[in-house]
Amino acid sequence: MGGELRFDGRVAVVTGAGAGLGRAYALLFAERGASVVVNDLGGGRHGDGKSSKAADSVVSEIRGKGGKAVADYNSVEDGDKIIQTALENFGRVDIVVNNAGILRDKSFARISDVDWELIQRVHLKGTFKTTQAAWPHFRKQNYGRIIVTASNSGIYGNFGQANYSAAKMGVVGLSNTLAIEGRKNNIHCNVIVPTAASRLTEDILPPEFFAELRPELIAPVVVWLCHESCEENGSIIESAAGWAGKCYMVRGQGALLRARMTDGVTVEDVYNKWNEVTDMSGATRCNSIEEASSSFMTLLEKLKSGSQDSEEENQTVVEDFSYTTRDLILYALGVGASVSRPNDLKFLYENHEEFSAIPTYMIIPGQMAVMSTDLLQGAIPGRQIELSRVLHGEQYLEMLQPVPTSGTMRSHCRVADVMDKGSGAVVLINVDTFSENGEKIAFGQMTVFVVGAGGFGGKRTSERAIATIEAPKRNPDATIRQKTDVDQAALYRLSGDFNPLHIDPSMAAMGGFSQPILHGLCSLGFSARHVLQQYAGNDPSRFKAIKVRFAKPVIPGQTLQTDMWQQGNRIHFQTKVVETGNNVITGAYIDLIDASSVIPNNVAAEELKSTPVFEAMKIRMEANLDKVKKINGVFLYYITQNGKVAATWTVDLKKGKLYQGEPQGTKADCTLTMDDKDMVEVAEGRLNPQVAFMKGKLKIKGNIMLSQKLRDLMKEESKL
Ligand code: NAI
Repeated sequence: MGGELRFDGRVAVVTGAGAGLGRAYALLFAERGASVVVNDLGGGRHGDGKSSKAADSVVSEIRGKGGKAVADYNSVEDGDKIIQTALENFGRVDIVVNNAGILRDKSFARISDVDWELIQRVHLKGTFKTTQAAWPHFRKQNYGRIIVTASNSGIYGNFGQANYSAAKMGVVGLSNTLAIEGRKNNIHCNVIVPTAASRLTEDILPPEFFAELRPELIAPVVVWLCHESCEENGSIIESAAGWAGKCYMVRGQGALLRARMTDGVTVEDVYNKWNEVTDMSGATRCNSIEEASSSFMTLLEKLKSGSQDSEEENQTVVEDFSYTTRDLILYALGVGASVSRPNDLKFLYENHEEFSAIPTYMIIPGQMAVMSTDLLQGAIPGRQIELSRVLHGEQYLEMLQPVPTSGTMRSHCRVADVMDKGSGAVVLINVDTFSENGEKIAFGQMTVFVVGAGGFGGKRTSERAIATIEAPKRNPDATIRQKTDVDQAALYRLSGDFNPLHIDPSMAAMGGFSQPILHGLCSLGFSARHVLQQYAGNDPSRFKAIKVRFAKPVIPGQTLQTDMWQQGNRIHFQTKVVETGNNVITGAYIDLIDASSVIPNNVAAEELKSTPVFEAMKIRMEANLDKVKKINGVFLYYITQNGKVAATWTVDLKKGKLYQGEPQGTKADCTLTMDDKDMVEVAEGRLNPQVAFMKGKLKIKGNIMLSQKLRDLMKEESKL
């Protein structure tokens, strides 16, 4: 972060700001440049009386320090008047901190109607009225930050505070929905759960801690949540004594209480399943109401389709999988990332500022869970499954969150369906992978073919299978070739799949192969990298989902060619072995977020004559870095063949880097377009670049002067 987080030009309304926490918030907002409406009714702790003294004293404190503030003495029940004060004095409102509060503690039996209503009016209705009055202004200006104040008494319950607990959980529900309704207008709403020394807590908090629980230690948390650069929305943040943490609800896996759609549920069914219903060992967070309902909707679908409704099918295997940055690097090397492409360094160097995982790594936790448990056993009626007869047929992976760069993932794997293909059986395994804090990171579906396990009278197809999609019939829009190493499988297996078929010649022979074969998931990783490189600027955060069918094996050392076709954000691809022409991955696609439109390229860069020219340029550039950096420019070359772009190269003289593809993390100052053979002629000194430019053989866009400098340098060093 650079510099102080400021609020200049912003208007913050803080209710109940005449004392305690509200006062600390108001002072800090003003100190950071905001104009503050200091609202306070100035009444007693139990909601009795009123006075202007509290608000006035905070306003003079702010003004005394050179800040901007006005007092407002309305009750939050008239929240619209408080917002009016902001508009009249400062002309706008950007932030509302709903903080005003009172207590009327009584044991539940003794709570009167007045005790109940007053508390609901101040906390719940007051929050509603003040926020609702600001809402249209937030929407109009496409900006707003809201804080509501809850309490541990609501979240955990507290003796003698039934009225207060109810109101405090009321504002949490309000905030959850405001976060959803406001999101598209950049209106964020979060809950603060403070614990601080104030008049509300002087007889509640232990005296030995009272002095340590200063409101000033919570104010920075609230103020940060209201900053324009804070993305947090819909969260509950607890804070006290210079500590802050996020808090949310989780739900257990639960249990299905009936076996068929036609069954009802008896009290005894519930009694019998109670341990399972209340088992929290696999508890996770639901991120939305849709996600919360999708689990029982899926169960309903299952019941409706009447397939395999038995309890076994719903059995979920839960497995943990830990990894570090080292494992991510090993995986990246295993799927062909290389330091020879500067763009890949972020996958290979843990101290790189953009260090990240290749997203397909998230297939591995689920795969490990399936391989290390007996999930498959019992999947096919009456069959024992030998692992040597299991083939990985298809794979799907959908990312819901970026891959953490280290941690322990928990995968929930279950058999989603079984199909009878006659010669063999196909088993669909669905895998949900969660991070340590219960956030769902990925969903995967693994399709395995069990040789010789068919003929049990099952159905042939399943509506739960995520389908492959054949590539369009036209020529590919882009192609990338990459040779695998003879040790590729030996390297890839270190990511976890130690099946001897990939290393041990005798095991390979038993499987009917002339030599050990490459892991299908390794070829998948190569192709996923190629698509990211070609259509997503090698940015893993733009990867959404992948689906592939493994058609034929690859021998380590063979060359993989990924042919790609773009259809919006969906990139269809097919991977073949160049040496044999065999298609090894078919029906495949990757869904991207904001795929780059790439000018079709029909030729693999390796086949172009200009490729060695760039390679030589790179060597010369690296030998003359000081000189090169002085030019201070980024050049983008489009090399064409038969009028179509066949290769793209970036010559980044600012960083002293030369690589294939569009500029990474920077913009081109100058774009040069030239035919492959003209580029070679220029390099060899047979074609003068100026003449080429005049004849239209070299097209230059952007900073032409800069290209002149590049030419001079290249000429001086290398005749180019
Ligand atoms: P405080 O009593 O020091 O401050 C609350 C302020 O709200 C008072 O100045 C009061 O005059 C004002 N107020 C009361 N009713 C109002 C109304 N109808 N309209 C406008 N202003 C009104 O209390 P504290 O501790 O600073 O509490 C601030 C908020 O934090 C409250 O919502 C409280 O429920 C909540 N809270 C505080 C905790 C703590 O440990 N201090 C714990 C959990 C929640």
